[in-house]
Formats: sequence, C-alpha cells, structure tokens
Amino acid sequence: MNINFEQKILEAKELFKPFYKGDFELFSSPTSHFRTRAELSFFHNENGEIFYAMFNGKQKYIVRNLDFADEKICALMPKLLQALNLNQKLKTKLFGVEFLASKKELSVSLLYHKDTLEIKEDLTKLSNALNLNLIARSRGKKLIFGKENLRQVLDIKGKKIIYEFDNDCFIQPNTYINEKMIEWVSKQILTQEKSDLLELYCGYGNFTLALAPFFRRVLATELSKKNIAYALKNCTLNNSSNIHFARLSSEELSKALRKEREFFRLKDIDLDSFHFSHVLLDPPRAGLEESVIDLAKKYENILYISCNPTSLKENLTQLTQTHTITNFALFDQFALTPHLECGVILKKINNASK
Ligand SMILES: C[S@@+](CC[C@H](N)C(=O)[O-])C[C@H]1O[C@@H](n2cnc3c(N)ncnc32)[C@H](O)[C@@H]1O
Repeated sequence: MNINFEQKILEAKELFKPFYKGDFELFSSPTSHFRTRAELSFFHNENGEIFYAMFNGKQKYIVRNLDFADEKICALMPKLLQALNLNQKLKTKLFGVEFLASKKELSVSLLYHKDTLEIKEDLTKLSNALNLNLIARSRGKKLIFGKENLRQVLDIKGKKIIYEFDNDCFIQPNTYINEKMIEWVSKQILTQEKSDLLELYCGYGNFTLALAPFFRRVLATELSKKNIAYALKNCTLNNSSNIHFARLSSEELSKALRKEREFFRLKDIDLDSFHFSHVLLDPPRAGLEESVIDLAKKYENILYISCNPTSLKENLTQLTQTHTITNFALFDQFALTPHLECGVILKKINNASK
C-alpha cells in the first residue's frame, strides 16, 4: 500500500465518521503501469523538434516517460515520438496526443490544428509502420486508421465479460481497480433479496453487464449517445437478454418515473413493469441532483459508486435520512493523486418515510 493511499484512507474515515462507524474495505492499486488513459501536449522547440509535454498551470514541462501509464503506452511513446520527429508534415500543427489501452489493445489519437486530410497518406504510413490503431482529429473531423474501438475482457471472479468502447466513451481509468469495484458490488448484493435493478449513469455497461445475471431485469440509463451505443453492442457481445438501455439523463429518468413527462426514447419500455429492489448510482464528480436523491430514497437498496468524496458526503447527508450504510469500500483508482473512489451500500431503514 503506498503512502498516498494511507493518507487518503485516514482523510476518508474522518470525512465519513458522521455516517459510518464500521470497517472500510480497502483496495490498493499497483503503483506503476495502472492507468489506461493518458493525454499529453506537444512542445515544439526552435529547431523544429517536438517533445511530449504536460502543463502545470501555465508552466509546461517535458515528459520523457509516464511510469503510471499502461505498459503498451510506455512502449509506444518513444517510437511514436521518433516517427513524428522524422516527418515534417506529421509534426506541423500537432498539439496533442491521447493514448487509450485495454488489456490487449491500444489506440492513439493525434490532435491537429489543421485539416488532417492533407496528411492522410503520411498518417496511413505511420499507422502501418507502427501497427497502430490511429485516429487523427482536427476541428470536429476525425480520420481513423486501423480501428477506433478497443476490446476489453474483464475477469470478474473467473467470469469473462466482454466490452467494446472507444476514446469518446467514459472509461474507468484503472482496469485493476475497475475489476475490484465490480467484484465488490457483486459480492455485496449476493446475499440480498433482489428483483430488478435500476442503474443511472451506466456508461457503456461497465457494471451493468456484470450485475445483470443477479437480477430479474435491469433498466440502465445514461446521458451520452456514444456510451449507450456501445452499451447495446456490449449487451449483444455478452448475450445479455434482461437489460434495457435507454439514453436519458438522470433528470429525465426521474421525470419519467414520476410520470411528469413521457419520452419517445422510452416508447418500447413499460416502466410500470419493473419492480426495482436496487438502484445503482455512479455519477460524475458533481454527485447527484436533488431529483435523483429523491428517486434513490424510494428504493430498498442503494449502491453508490463515487469518484468524489466531497459530493458523496453531501449526498449521504440526505440519503442517510432514509437509509443506513451497511458497507463502505475505498478504492485507490487514482493512485498517486489526491483523488479517491468510494463504494457505499445503503439499506432502507424500516419505517423510513420516503
Ligand atoms: C463516473 S461515469 C460512470 C460510467 C459507468 N458507470 C462506468 O463504470 O464506466 C458517469 C457517467 O454518467 C454520465 N452522465 C453524466 N451526466 C449525466 C446525467 N446528467 N445523466 C445521466 N448520465 C450522465 C456520463 O456520460 C458517464 O458515462
């Protein structure tokens, strides 16, 4: 366990003391090569040579290697830089690069301040020479060399789950911890009484596909069109037949469930036919809106995954009016940074009003 995580654990225990006095389950991360996504800028020196760079406020510093990044990213970085430096057309007006890795595959996006159609041939050669899934982006245009989507196979306690996604999807950045999070949530619900699962913020189905076999039916919703498109594809890849995905914001879903508004996107889904025993929430850093808190309070079990302890604490102030925390886990998803991922299981208090 690295020191950073120990500090974060102490802080989290203090932060959540008003709500939870039990033990925390702790999941530390490998301290190198754990991150599957990396974004860098390019620094162009006066001799026309380019270097990977990062910004710290306004200060730019040159990056030679990224020890925290996936090994495939680390191996590619020097080769890619060398190839770019040897080609004037490829490095001119190049300002950024995004690396994305699954366990076995890798894609690279190069970001340009010029029309990439002019350098299509050179990009094709670069992709072939480095055997690379390459995406070139410029002002809303995207050229793809190789393939855009990556395949991931997660191992959840011996069960293989297949996913596809691309660089425009939300991706949990630490695959080791992601598997631990899914395993942890699965373990928590194992002995609970279950009927249907309602999931908000489902992304491309990261949790959905692993949890669906535990439930009769699942309704999973998400704001992003791209995420939902991959979620549907991932459903097919895993032969899942009890999941309904819908592209709805959490606010829209709350309105639909309260029958305040009808949505064409729900035309094939009979909301009244679901009997949700569990709601799974994995919101962005801002946490839950009021309408979602009110919605979640209705259900017997709340499974809350949070990447921001501060917004989680605010939300727990309200959720613990009707629910009690039974289990709490801390995941070092963002190892070596101050950020922390939390998992919280809440159960409705008997006779709670909402
Ligand atoms: C922290 S990510 C979790 C995704 C997914 N559970 C996973 O493990 O990959 C939050 C997700 O919420 C989606 N999102 C953001 N704002 C939203 C909103 N208002 N309503 C519904 N989904 C939203 C984002 O597109 C993103 O996929």
